[in-house]
Parts: sequence; C-alpha cells; structure tokens
Amino acid sequence: MAPMTRTSVTRILLLLCCGSFLYSVFLFFPKIDQQFLSTKGFGFHRQASEQFPVNAYRPLASHIAQHFPPPDTTRKKYHEWNAQTLRELYVCMALSNCGANQQKVALLASHWFEEAIVRDWRGGEGVWYYKNLRELGYTTLFANSFDEALEQYRLFPDLVKVVIRNRAGDCHKDTKCVKGPNNPSGIPAWKIFDFEYFSSPEGGHHGASLMKGKWILSANPDPRFADGQGPIQYLGFSIEEECSKLPIIPLAERSHQVWMLMKQLTYVYDHRFTWNRSYFSLAAQELGIDFVGGWQINQHYQWEPDKKGTMIDIEDKEHRTEFAHEIGSSKMLIGVGNPYWSPSPYNALCQGIPFLNPIINWDRGDPWNKAKWHSQHPSLNLLDPPYVYNVHKGNYTGFIEAIKLGTQTEIPRFVEPQSSS
Ligand SMILES: *[C@@H]1O[C@H](CO)[C@@H](O)[C@H](O)[C@H]1NC(C)=O
Ligand SMILES: *[C@@H]1O[C@H](CO)[C@@H](O)[C@H](O)[C@H]1NC(C)=O
Repeated sequence: MAPMTRTSVTRILLLLCCGSFLYSVFLFFPKIDQQFLSTKGFGFHRQASEQFPVNAYRPLASHIAQHFPPPDTTRKKYHEWNAQTLRELYVCMALSNCGANQQKVALLASHWFEEAIVRDWRGGEGVWYYKNLRELGYTTLFANSFDEALEQYRLFPDLVKVVIRNRAGDCHKDTKCVKGPNNPSGIPAWKIFDFEYFSSPEGGHHGASLMKGKWILSANPDPRFADGQGPIQYLGFSIEEECSKLPIIPLAERSHQVWMLMKQLTYVYDHRFTWNRSYFSLAAQELGIDFVGGWQINQHYQWEPDKKGTMIDIEDKEHRTEFAHEIGSSKMLIGVGNPYWSPSPYNALCQGIPFLNPIINWDRGDPWNKAKWHSQHPSLNLLDPPYVYNVHKGNYTGFIEAIKLGTQTEIPRFVEPQSSS
C-alpha cells in the first residue's frame, strides 16, 4: 500500500497519544477501577469488620491484621495480595468462620488479572472475572503462568475449584502440568477453564482448552446464539453498578460533538475500517458537528511503516480545541469497525449516549437481515434507534442520517439486560 495522504478532519481533538500498552485509552475504566476497589472492600481497602453478612468474604480481624501490613499500594506486587488472601483463608479456617465460598479457591492465572486489579491496567478483560468471583466471596489468587498456578494448586488441591487462564490447552498437553499417571499432583484437566474475553464459536483460540465447550469462558455470547446458549460458556459481565455512578448530562448541555470509538490510529487504516476517512470532514461540514476522540499513534501497532509508509494522523492541528472533552459530554459514540466488541458502547448507552454500530459484512441480497450481519458490536445488533444506529459499511447517507438523528434524540440511561447478567 502506498503511503497515505493526509486527510483533513475538521476540529478533531487529539486527547491522548502516548502510552505504551494496548488498552491505554479505555476512558471509563480509570474511574471505575478506583471506585470499585475503594468501595467494595477489596484488596488494599479491606477492613476488618465485625458485622457483615454471614456468607460474605471474611477479612482478618483487626487484632491480627495489625501485625501483617496490607499490600503496598505503590509497589503493586500481586504476591503481596496473595499473601494477604492466604492469611485470611488460614485464619478463617482456624476459627471456623470463613464466608460460605471462602474455602473455594480460584486461581486467576492470566497476567491480565493482576495487571487489572493490582497494577491499575485499564482493560476491562481482567476485571470482570475477579469482580464476580470476589463478590461471591471466593478466595482468589493471582498467578502469571501455569507453573506458578501449579505451585499454588499443590498447596491445597482439594480447595482449588478452578484454574482460569488463557491457552488452557498448554497445560492439557503438558504432562508435567496436567494431572496424569506420571503427575498425580498435577491439575486435573477439568479444573482448568480457558479465559477468553471474546467468544470464538468453534473454540478456535490459539492453544485453547482441549475440553472445549463449556470449559471455554467468555464475557460475550456467541454471536450465533443471541440467548447465550452457544457451545462455549457465556458468563456475561455487569457494568451497571459502576456506570450508574457516572452522571448523565442532559443532551442540551452537551458539547456539539460526537466521540470516535478508537484507541489506535491504525483503526482508520486497517481492513476493518468501515468508513472513508473523508467522511469525518464531510459530515463535520454538513452537520456542523465536531468529531473528537482519543487515540494512540503507534507506527508499529498492527502497522508496518517500512512497507506501508508512515501513518498520517487525522487530527486537524489548526483547529485543535484547547480544552479536553470527555465522552460523557458528547452526543453520540461512533464505531469505525475496530475495536471488536469493546465494552465502551455499553458504558456510553449507560450514560445516555447512543452508539453508531458499523455493519462490516452482510448478505448483499438481504441487507437488513440482522442474522446475516457481522458488525463491530455483535450483541448490540439487536437494538435499534434511538439507542443503536446500525449502519452498513461505506454508506455515507446512512452515516450522516444516523449522526443527525442520534445527536438530536435524547435517550435515557440504558443498560442492556444481557450485558448485566
Ligand atoms: C473516499 O473518498 C474519496 C474522496 O471523497 C474518494 O476519492 C475515494 O474514492 C473514496 N474511497 C472509497 C474507498 O470509497
Ligand atoms: C444507506 O442508508 C440509507 C439511509 O439509511 C438507506 O436508505 C439506504 O438503503 C442505504 N443503502 C445501502 C446500500 O444500504
């Protein structure tokens, strides 16, 4: 591909362009994580309390806790979290007062968990398992490999009920990891669950669980089975509690802007990009509205500058706005094809912001048959205006109409029931 020429976009605001990791521009999670961690009594903020529901997770009594410093909030070492969790388990077992599920141990063995929970990484993927398990009062330990999970498993094999990690097949195939005739203290194959945020209907993830089916856990349903009854185990996730803390700004008080859902500049250059880069400046002129967003510019993220030339930013620097806009003060959230099935549109809807969902592929003879669609956000296909505007790739008329209507039509806070199961 030849180097791209500059596309001028009227008053695109570049908010964030630095940072070294993939999910650095999750705009909601910083707030959510901190609120979640500080209000739920998890982790650093765990308090010993004499009064709590009989089934709840039992923290250390204060007279014991005073001798054992809690995890250090600046070191951010998950081993310190594990040590605290183990103290709580041993003490409650000794005192026979564990919460109902506390003697059931889940080993969270993918790095995403400790990154999200201990090191404030902003991606949603790591948070949701942990959150659900801790809310149900399970004991959870972090690990970063099957080797580490195996060591933990061997501490109390009967108590460990599940080991959750991506590439579960790696342990299944490793006779030093999985329980077998030559490794009686290995992890039983059936206790290992594959950690996948996205569903892959055929279980086709690289290195996936050899158990397949219900041993593959996913936050999202199989798009072929909207009711979640696909071959994989759809668990869902909940955003309601976090997003209900965010204010809803009345439409009339919002900036006249739409927010572009893109964390990487490559998203407007890759094959999944559903519009023409010219659409943004055309639509900005036609509707007199600003297109804003926050994206990372990484010439090496899914891009090869040697072969493809330097990616040219679409920000219009001459019209850069001086103050930072947030998504909550935007009138609509617009998908550009990628990222696939991100939680952000759920958060937007929960703040009363409609979503423009690009239809990436469809039956050319039957373009409105939703069952034949492949869209950026498969489970939001089911919704219609004024919440979700589904627009076919490359349809400028549809694009303009959706933005016009979407930015004029006020919607209440909306939480998709399925996303909160
Ligand atoms: C994108 O828009 C430009 C200018 O309007 C046009 O020349 C080009 O053919 C369009 N590309 C596609 C793929 O539609
Ligand atoms: C494009 O969108 C317009 C407006 O929604 C619609 O009337 C038209 O049928 C769409 N065209 C195609 C090819 O899908």
